[in-house]
Amino acid sequence: MDYNTQKMPKHVAIIMDGNGRWAKEKGKLRVFGHQNGVKAVRNAVNFAARNEIKVLTLYAFSSENWSRPESEVSALMTLFMKALTSEVKKLHSNNIKLNIIGDKSAFTEDLQKRIIESEILTAKNTGLILNIAANYGGYWDIVNATKSLAEKVKAGELEPQEITAELFQSSLATKEQPPVDLLIRTSGEQRISNFLLWQIAYAELFFTSVLWPDFDENVFSEAISVYQQRERRFGSC
Ligand code: IPE
Ligand code: IPE
Ligand code: MG
Repeated sequence: MDYNTQKMPKHVAIIMDGNGRWAKEKGKLRVFGHQNGVKAVRNAVNFAARNEIKVLTLYAFSSENWSRPESEVSALMTLFMKALTSEVKKLHSNNIKLNIIGDKSAFTEDLQKRIIESEILTAKNTGLILNIAANYGGYWDIVNATKSLAEKVKAGELEPQEITAELFQSSLATKEQPPVDLLIRTSGEQRISNFLLWQIAYAELFFTSVLWPDFDENVFSEAISVYQQRERRFGSC
């Protein structure tokens, strides 16, 4: 689908949903869907980088996903570790800056170490900012920002009346990044599932029935094209 490369959203966020159903349709185990979702991640990242989208935030594992069977959780952690290891060099050579956002303290030490190494390697890159939301929840993000501001007040570095929406926003995991312009969710579900909450205040929403492993450049292009046809008002008339 045609879209205007001059009017790209600055920040696109994607709820990558439907891996389990994709596998089930094929008579396979859910983990097969997750494995095939990695290719769709690669496609989405390439599309975003090529089209000069500034920030891409992908929801990989929610703070509620721990409630899944232990075997699925551990398969997802193994896959995350493998993908980080195999993809980070390519991300780096494509000038992509990788951030893992979420409560990383729940991960194994090995995974935490790999995350830090990947973030350090790509920290100075100036191209696409790629946020992978892992053990992320919108509630966690807001509570975490509140705690860091409260600590500053307690230490006498900040007055309560100095807390503004801008300061609060910059205390979130997405820091100084622009707010989300376009939020995409695959798999036909039309809900936010505790993804970015504050950051999507004025995002345009695009829902598609395509299951995540089938998400490709055509679907991404369609989402961009639909986004470009929307009239964004931000409260004005
Ligand atoms: C999204 O696919 C991936 C994660 C949440 C980790 P699901 O695993 O939620 O797949 P469905 O929604 O059950 O089909
Ligand atoms: C949201 O999908 C989380 C991710 C895509 C990582 P879920 O499949 O966990 O969401 P619900 O349970 O359908 O709301
Ligand atoms: Mg799901």
